[in-house]
Formats: sequence, structure tokens, C-alpha cells
Amino acid sequence: MTPQIALDFSPLSMLVGNSPAMRQVHRLVTRMGKSRFPVLILGETGTGKEVVARAIHAMEGRGQFVVVDCSSLVGPLMESELFGYAKGAFTGAHVQKLGLLDAANGGTAFFDEIGELPLEMQMKLLRVLQEKEFRAVGGLSQRSSNFRVIAATNRDLAEEVEEKRFRQDLYYRLNVMRLRIAPLRERKEDIPALILHFLQRYGNGHRLPDEVMDSLIEYDWPGNVRELEHTVQQMVAMNSGPWISKADLPSTVVNRSFERKLTGGNGGSGAPGASAAASFDGNSGIKPLTEVERCAILHAIEYTKGDRTLAAAMLGIGRTTLYRKLKEYGL
Ligand SMILES: Nc1ncnc2c1ncn2[C@@H]1O[C@H](COP(=O)(O)OP(=O)(O)OP(=O)(O)O)[C@@H](O)[C@H]1O
Ligand SMILES: [Mg+2]
Repeated sequence: MTPQIALDFSPLSMLVGNSPAMRQVHRLVTRMGKSRFPVLILGETGTGKEVVARAIHAMEGRGQFVVVDCSSLVGPLMESELFGYAKGAFTGAHVQKLGLLDAANGGTAFFDEIGELPLEMQMKLLRVLQEKEFRAVGGLSQRSSNFRVIAATNRDLAEEVEEKRFRQDLYYRLNVMRLRIAPLRERKEDIPALILHFLQRYGNGHRLPDEVMDSLIEYDWPGNVRELEHTVQQMVAMNSGPWISKADLPSTVVNRSFERKLTGGNGGSGAPGASAAASFDGNSGIKPLTEVERCAILHAIEYTKGDRTLAAAMLGIGRTTLYRKLKEYGL
């Protein structure tokens, strides 16, 4: 009997995360992968719209996955990009060239950042979607291409329609099945699994202590999964391992958890140096910046029990700058 191999090659394995929101995405991807209807994917920047689109495409596994970057489809070249051009269509067109829609024949055309498509191009795209036929620039005959449409945007497309920046008829065409990916801050349960996934990909046996993991979970991730991925890459690059330390955290993450501690937000309980924090929160109103800075430095030094490298990282400044400021303030 051949042994069972436990490796998971299903398209869903591309989508790490087991939060209720992510499980719903898995269910929708599975369902959408079984049909050829258009799909509209909505989500903030970096939430994984393209990975989801690729997973839907991979479910069927037919043809190519062709990315049409709508934000770059501007100017005179946009039509030739999309539809290709005939030989002699313009100066320099020595041979005919197929367009992105030809390449997507039998597969999927992924219209990324569809909200950025200029109005004039929206009309042309609508016609192609209706007729599944188009004409290359300078070409005489109609060509057909049978592709599945997946579009993605971080804009509120319904509002774009209201504001007359996006054609309603095209919106209806694209919005047949819809999938919304929640921002990472609304599915923090996914953060540890994503971190492990990226550590496996970029790390070299690197490991995270709980306190670093806690700071990463606490952070709001405005750039979502992409920002988390870059953060792991950065931390791995800064530390030869195996244990990543708090000092490897980027200043954005550190400043955020530091702020929270000062304002008594999540994770702030029991933080040392509460007296320094109080002076930030009091009703006394505005303070001179130098005093705020002096307080922040004192607090960081106290909080890190005198570890200046860590204090500098938490303050988001270099070690030399910290030394200079310590001297300046006579600390
Ligand atoms: N659930 C996930 N599992 C694993 N990797 C993910 C997941 N979500 C996102 N990623 C990774 O995060 C990065 C950003 O994802 P992607 O490019 O799909 O985001 P996006 O929503 O298209 O972003 P943008 O709006 O900026 O184009 C990619 O490297 C992707 O592989
Ligand atoms: Mg994208």
C-alpha cells in the first residue's frame, strides 16, 4: 500500500487563517471555484484580494491567470494592452501582438483595482464582457476570448456608482458573486498562523517569544497581511536567530503598543512607569514638546530596565540619537 502523504496542495492552503471570517472566505472560494460567473472581491489594501482570486482560479485549474492592472491601464496604450494590436496599427507595430484578454482565453482575467479604470475604458470593457468579442487595435476582424472575470477593488464601488465615477451597468456585470475580505484587525486570530507561515517562508528556523507575538497581535495592521509579511521579512533580516527579540520589532509596531500602554489601552495593565504615563493623560492640556520627549525617553528607559537598544527601538529612533538625547536632557 502506498503511504498517505499529508501535504496539502489544495488551493485553499494558499489562504492561511482559521478565523470565522477566513473560514467563510474558504467556503466562498470553494463555491465560487465551481462556477464561471464573475466575482467581485472587496477589501482594504493588503488583505489578500489577489491570493483569493488566484485560489478561486486554481479551484478549477483551467487556463492561465492573467492580471490586468486597471490602475496602469491609462493613456493611449491601454487598448493595445488589453486587446492587442494588428501589424501596422501604429508606428512601431511591426508584428501583430496579442492582448491580455487573448492570453486569458480559457482561464481567468483578474481585473485588479477595477475602481481605477477610466470611464472611457469601462465602456469598452462592458462591451467585451457582454459580447465576449473585441477587436485588436487597428484590426479588422472580431476576436473572441472565453475568460472568467474576477475583479478586485479597495474602493467602495457602490459609492463610486452613486458618485457617477463608475458605470452602473458594469458594476452589475461584475457584482454577480461578491466576496469581502475583512481587514486583519477584525480577525486577529489569524495573526499567529500568518506569522508562522511567513516565518517558514522567510525565516531560517527563527522563533518568536510570546511578548513579541503579543505586540504583533496588539498592533492594528493598517497595511493588513502585506504589512505583516514585510514585518516578518524585516525581523528575520535583522536577527540571525533563532530567537527574534522585541528590539527587532519595527518602530511602527512598537510605537503603537507604547502609545497604548501610555493611554492605558489594550495590554497596558501593569506597565511599569505608570506615573510617567499619567503626565501624558492628565487634564493639564498641552505640554512643551521637549517635556513630552523627555518623559517618553525616561519612560522607555524605565520600561526596558535600562536596555538602551530596546528603548531606542521602542522610541523609533536610532541608538546614537537616543544617547544624544539622554545627554541633552541630562538623564
Ligand atoms: N490569507 C493569506 N494567507 C497567506 N498569505 C496571504 C494571505 N492574505 C494575504 N497574503 C499575502 O499578503 C500579501 C498581500 O496580498 P495581496 O497582494 O493578495 O493583497 P491585495 O488585497 O491584493 O492588496 P492590494 O490592495 O494592495 O493590491 C501577498 O504577499 C499575499 O501572499
Ligand atoms: Mg492586489
